Amino acid sequence: MSLLTLPSLADPHVHLREPGSENKEDFFTGTCAALAGGYTALLDMPNNPQPTISQLALEEKRNLAATKIVCDVGFNFGALPDNLAEYAAIAPKVAGLKAYLGETHGPLVFGGLTEIMEVFAAWPPAPEYAGKPILIHAEGQMVAAVIGLAALYDRKIHICHLSKKSELNLVRAAKARGFKVTCEVAPHHLFLTYEDAAPGSLGPYGKMSPALQNSTDVDALWQGLVEGSIDMVATDHAPHTCAEKESDKPPFGVPGLETAFGLLYRAACQQRSGLTVARLLEVMAYAPRRVFGLPPNAGEFEIDPKEEYTFTNTGLFTKCAWTPFAGMKGRGRIRQVRLRGAVVFEDGQVLAAPGSGKILF
Ligand code: DOR
Ligand code: ZN
Ligand code: ZN
Repeated sequence: MSLLTLPSLADPHVHLREPGSENKEDFFTGTCAALAGGYTALLDMPNNPQPTISQLALEEKRNLAATKIVCDVGFNFGALPDNLAEYAAIAPKVAGLKAYLGETHGPLVFGGLTEIMEVFAAWPPAPEYAGKPILIHAEGQMVAAVIGLAALYDRKIHICHLSKKSELNLVRAAKARGFKVTCEVAPHHLFLTYEDAAPGSLGPYGKMSPALQNSTDVDALWQGLVEGSIDMVATDHAPHTCAEKESDKPPFGVPGLETAFGLLYRAACQQRSGLTVARLLEVMAYAPRRVFGLPPNAGEFEIDPKEEYTFTNTGLFTKCAWTPFAGMKGRGRIRQVRLRGAVVFEDGQVLAAPGSGKILF
């Protein structure tokens, strides 16, 4: 068996759930899942039950994470129209500012035009942070609105989890005009359609925000990923327990850290839509680090490039212990992950000590 060594991956969009939802995930289990999936750097999202919208909440997260993480973790700060005064103090300590706009759920959502304009005017709080983007959770027309605001205010925006062809067309047009727009796509929007979320199929386990779309959208996303309009893959790792998913009101979100590489590597071996291994490394390792200003990659991982396997709900490191990709195939089994010269994962075992990961920023 000859192994292939690759630069370790970086995921700019995960929900590690701590503090407040440790029943779903915590900093240790989430970063173990990352290593098992070939990732050594993550950016965590602010939508905890007590959202990361104050300096105090950010400090609490950083302190909690510092003793538990087994890979490197940075944080995004939550935008609200009434926390603009916090931006100056937190800007050096975060990757970017996350704005949940429009029609999703939870206490971090806002949508009035006046409020959104205030956030665009206030971020970045100083020119030296101009490289740090506003990350946008938005769909449909709201994507057009934020692209317009990025142009008006000359701001850098990053559109999270594109799911529709129409949104991709907006991003293409914005890039053609030279606007400072980047975007990501999630594996579930590349490998699943709304039909997979039907009652007899994934049912609530296929429910996420944005929702799964049709095959025309999926084909467009693949084209965008391969041609370069889509800058990167982000898992939007959003674990929820099986009990929550099977409840009367299942929450939105699916885990993704342990399945993304296998899915994408298999697709590259099949040259799906023309995807190459070089492009895979650009969208899963290089682009996230470049766009979000992460330190140079200090990790690598070894795979068996020939081994195909089937994803199952057993043996996962994520606390939620399920995957929407169970029964689907991956390729390139991850044998070993190294970070700063140390073997941190090998043959299904996490070897890194809690707290050995670094806080980014
Ligand atoms: O599917 C989603 N899950 N979309 C979101 O916007 C939030 C996320 C979560 O935190 O579970
Ligand atoms: Zn989102
Ligand atoms: Zn998310």
